[in-house]
Amino acid sequence: MPLEPIGKTLLVTGGCGFIGSNFLRLALRAPAAWTRIINLDKLTYAGRLENVAGLAGDPRYSFVHADICDPEAVAGVFAEHRPSAVVHLAAESHVDRSILHPQAFVRTNVEGTLVLLEAAQRFWASLEGSAREGFRFLHASTDEVYGSLAPEAPPFTEASPYAPRSPYAASKAASDHLVRAYSATYGLPVLLSNCSNNYGPFQLPEKLIPLLIRFALQGRPLPVYGDGLQVRDWLYVEDHCRALLLLLAAGRPGQTYNVGGEEERTNLAITEQVCRLLDALRPKAGGSYRDQIELVADRPGHDRRYAVDAGKLRRELGWRPHMESLEDGLSTTVAWYLEHEGWMEQVTGGGYSGWIAENYDRRGQS
Ligand code: NAD
Ligand code: TYD
Repeated sequence: MPLEPIGKTLLVTGGCGFIGSNFLRLALRAPAAWTRIINLDKLTYAGRLENVAGLAGDPRYSFVHADICDPEAVAGVFAEHRPSAVVHLAAESHVDRSILHPQAFVRTNVEGTLVLLEAAQRFWASLEGSAREGFRFLHASTDEVYGSLAPEAPPFTEASPYAPRSPYAASKAASDHLVRAYSATYGLPVLLSNCSNNYGPFQLPEKLIPLLIRFALQGRPLPVYGDGLQVRDWLYVEDHCRALLLLLAAGRPGQTYNVGGEEERTNLAITEQVCRLLDALRPKAGGSYRDQIELVADRPGHDRRYAVDAGKLRRELGWRPHMESLEDGLSTTVAWYLEHEGWMEQVTGGGYSGWIAENYDRRGQS
């Protein structure tokens, strides 16, 4: 007998991370969209049960503690939960860590994605009729696979060539290629999204914006790499999650969609804005948080600019960010971190201080 998906069941990998936990909250708020959501997560240093604590009582939600690199565990999840779609967010995601410890990136991002694809493909091949037709494998990737943009170059489109330059970006590029290969070779109905830098609640303070907030409050120097004039295109995390939900509902199988905020800023501009917001919301005696800004030794191979053209997603699916502007989003975000200092303390326990020491203590000035 062919297997049938159970109701509308969504399998999310990496749901205890930054984007994953925001995605789960949004998906569970979407009226009657999913009858069940399974969150498969290894709980690495970046995956925190604190991020999904609010979901524990929801009968539609369940958590599976597993590694996407474990073929038996992953096949077991497909057999037991019989999902109608997969959103693949589990990854090693921090560029600086990939520079110092690249192996984990190849293991999870490349091998883990292959394990997941193989399990998804076998499960999908066993389906029939509308269950088979409706199945989707949505792979969340990054704009970093396209490499570094020249200052005046037009933003990345879905046709931009792949030119990854960090071990993180290279591992994500490899995973994207595998996902497309499973579409071409086996017919698996995949979707790919390549998104720009996300910001918002529940981001671990190893990434720029929450790190600045935490260091500012601790009175530490605010480490801006190199000349601070690298440009990123920032998107509020819930707007990325909305794009993922839209893609699941209406994206064309086999297609790639770029997602971005079209809000380009230099790192220095972001840092100064965070300082301005902190000055207003948590003034410090005797000066501005700006006084803590320090230009430090650059990240090796630091990509100069990313910018994303999200026109295809806007035209085909009517997506648009709900957050009015980056300034509004930053203001919401800084306020959230100030209201969640307890969460910040919890997620920066364990190995966090070891990482901060490794990446910053002997960095030197630029
Ligand atoms: P994150 O580091 O905050 O979370 C990653 C999650 O994956 C964690 O919960 C972790 O425990 C889990 N995980 C890691 N290895 C695993 C494994 N082997 N098995 C099972 N679970 C594992 O990452 P994020 O910022 O939420 O990013 C999520 C996805 O979105 C990633 O694929 C990333 O490449 C992509 N992305 C992120 C951004 C961004 O700005 N953060 C932008 C574009 C794309
Ligand atoms: P990050 O949040 O690590 O995201 P990504 O590398 O994926 O873009 O960094 C965003 C930008 O901020 C990037 O250009 C590197 C820079 N950066 C700093 O200047 N200082 C820091 O301490 C960190 C973590 C990042």
